[in-house]
Amino acid sequence: MFVTENLEVNEQNHLTIGGVDTIALAEKYGTPLYVMDEDMIRQNCRIYKDAIDRDYNGNGLILYASKAFSCLHMYRIVREEGLGVDVVSGGELYTALKAGMDPEKIYFHGNNKTDDEIELAVSNNVGRLVVDNFLELEHINRIAKEKNKTVSILFRIKPGIDAHTHAFIRTGQIDSKFGFALETGEAFEAVKSASEYKNLKIAGIHCHIGSQIFELEPFQEAAKVMCGFIAEVKDKLDIVMDELNLGGGFGIKYTEKDDPVAYDQYIDAVASVIKTCCWEAGIKLPKILMEPGRSIVASAGITLYTIGNVKNIPGIRKYVSVDGGMTDNPRYILYQSEYEAAIANKASDPRDDIVTIAGKCCESGDLIQENTKLQQAEAGDVLAVFATGAYNYSMASNYNRIPRPPVVMVSGGKDKLILKRESYEDLIRNDL
Ligand SMILES: Cc1ncc(COP(=O)(O)O)c(C=O)c1O
Repeated sequence: MFVTENLEVNEQNHLTIGGVDTIALAEKYGTPLYVMDEDMIRQNCRIYKDAIDRDYNGNGLILYASKAFSCLHMYRIVREEGLGVDVVSGGELYTALKAGMDPEKIYFHGNNKTDDEIELAVSNNVGRLVVDNFLELEHINRIAKEKNKTVSILFRIKPGIDAHTHAFIRTGQIDSKFGFALETGEAFEAVKSASEYKNLKIAGIHCHIGSQIFELEPFQEAAKVMCGFIAEVKDKLDIVMDELNLGGGFGIKYTEKDDPVAYDQYIDAVASVIKTCCWEAGIKLPKILMEPGRSIVASAGITLYTIGNVKNIPGIRKYVSVDGGMTDNPRYILYQSEYEAAIANKASDPRDDIVTIAGKCCESGDLIQENTKLQQAEAGDVLAVFATGAYNYSMASNYNRIPRPPVVMVSGGKDKLILKRESYEDLIRNDL
């Protein structure tokens, strides 16, 4: 009935998530409210971990791409499930360390890391720094030398794969701000020059070809190209790279139209390509890493809002306004992302109206969804937007000085507040 299987309807005609009544949650915590199903998140972690352990006999590691949803509680879940993490800023790194993540299992990305961020990573013995450009090689080496350390690095490579996804979330092709291009020889030059830096240790290579990808082929193609590069570096430079990190990007079901492949099937399909390529090239199977973000948390989350004004413009459209918007979910204004929604207190009523869900910000583009199916909406109803667990809280802002909503996790039929609602006091905390 709904796009995610953990959503059901109870006897009061209320939507439930992980068995918990969403109307009771809205009453207890207020709206807007992010609700996430911890059991589903853990289940997703296990599907990935089991698949990679099985396919590579323990010589693989899933890194949760924490940009999708980052907070202390999430890093603790990941740690308990035996995954590592991908972080992309000093703030994510700091949070991961505070949550007790093993630094060895932290991979630090970013196309323009500052000296402060590199210092934080190096002083805390972060497992790998994923190098994006030539200048960064110099900076990391300098900082490592000052601290009398050797830093293990991966190179972020643009493998030249064009995944069929939105232009802003496509990153594997040559015109991307991320990484070293393969086809121009830039990546090869980067490895060569890194080998001359005394405080760097070359561990391997990384690529991430984009996000919300449904096909297996782009991942398999990328794996082939990357294995070919490992072989080339061994042949021409006699450098053995022990790690291959293939990034994330696995698609999820935002709407009924989306048809993602099961995550373990992605891992299996890529594994068979890697094994064949390594065998053909005569190279040792590297340690394999993958970095799913969205597919671990997106479907586990929903956002609850209270509906206020319903404005019908005859012959044009009907606007249903909610008490949040682009501040808690900027993905529509950014990428026109598709979402499905339902009125949580009329959960099994037919969704027989076509409406535009509008936020409360002072921007005409502040919409959650246009022309979407919904039950008949009235002021005071609770609206649930589905599959908002990824890139919603983590991309939230305080535009219009709107406080960020809290996050509640549900698990085993119980709810737990893991992130408090911001207060007006929080908003002025750094004002001088
Ligand atoms: C380097 C890297 N790894 C992993 C991811 C996670 O992608 P997704 O959330 O689509 O799985 C991203 C997303 O931007 C990324 O840039």
